[in-house]
Amino acid sequence: MKELLDNPVKLIEEIDSFSLNTIAQKIEFQTRYTGKEGIFKKLNEYFRNLPPEEKKNYGLILNKIKVHIENKLASFKIQSANFKREDITRSIETPFLGSTHILNDVAEEVIKIFGRLGFEVEEGPEVETEFYNFTALNFPENHPARDMQDTFFINSEDLDSIYILRTHTSPVQIRKMINGKPPFRFLAPGKVFRCDHDATHSPIFHQIEGLYIDELVSFQDLKETLHFFAEEFFGKDIELRFRPSFFPFTEPSAEMDIQWEFKGNRWLEILGCGMVHPQVLENCNIDSKKWKGFAFGLGVERLAMLKYNISDIRLFYEGDVRFLTPQLNH
Ligand code: PHE
Repeated sequence: MKELLDNPVKLIEEIDSFSLNTIAQKIEFQTRYTGKEGIFKKLNEYFRNLPPEEKKNYGLILNKIKVHIENKLASFKIQSANFKREDITRSIETPFLGSTHILNDVAEEVIKIFGRLGFEVEEGPEVETEFYNFTALNFPENHPARDMQDTFFINSEDLDSIYILRTHTSPVQIRKMINGKPPFRFLAPGKVFRCDHDATHSPIFHQIEGLYIDELVSFQDLKETLHFFAEEFFGKDIELRFRPSFFPFTEPSAEMDIQWEFKGNRWLEILGCGMVHPQVLENCNIDSKKWKGFAFGLGVERLAMLKYNISDIRLFYEGDVRFLTPQLNH
């Protein structure tokens, strides 16, 4: 032991040049230098029994050896990180993870596009009173939409108001205007309900209402805004048209159609819109001389049908797993 400590150069060289590339070599290295029977252990024992005056000098040497051993072991870690290891994982089929429903994707996209124009998102209840759904929106008492043929009524004999399932998202306009102060600029997405069932109508479907009330809002702003939306959503070469229409709560009113290539270039209505009727503003205690604006109601299913060439609205609700496979997602 004494010779080793007196002349450690050989030992240090041996440590430094030890080939340390595999686990087996590492074990060999440890057995030889740091293990129970290893050289370092023996040197340590020898050192412990030395007289104090010799300890100082030999201590330094012992420490130097220790540093070389530690550095060598540390270098093994670094190298092993670069090793090409065997891949012990077995490749398996990617599990079916599902994805968001196409209607949610479309609604999200609409919200994003209008979000860039400063529209926020609001919500309202699906079970509404006749007041919010019809009366405040200027529907006359005998309007056919109030009929049982068109609207789902809730058995509410014991209640003060007549409750229905909302037939459109427009009551959210009323709720927000009655409870807030202009200006308003928001979207209100949600489910709506009507007694209707065929290839382009479903008893439950989704709308996104838009309301924009300010001091200087014109019909031109309405057209520009919806045109911008259509180009962002469908692409710049989309063909669209505005048709005059009628809604009791807007004046003038229009509908916007998009050309439907899938069905031999027919037009499909995707939204109703118009300038908010002054009576509706007054019903919400808003001064209709000062404030004006436009509203629109987009059909989410219609947008999805046009964008993804889906010919029957009922397909959205059948739970066909192809509607939820990630490949379908865009
Ligand atoms: N609420 C109308 C509908 O469901 C759409 C609409 C909304 C029209 C806002 C004009 C303004 O058909």
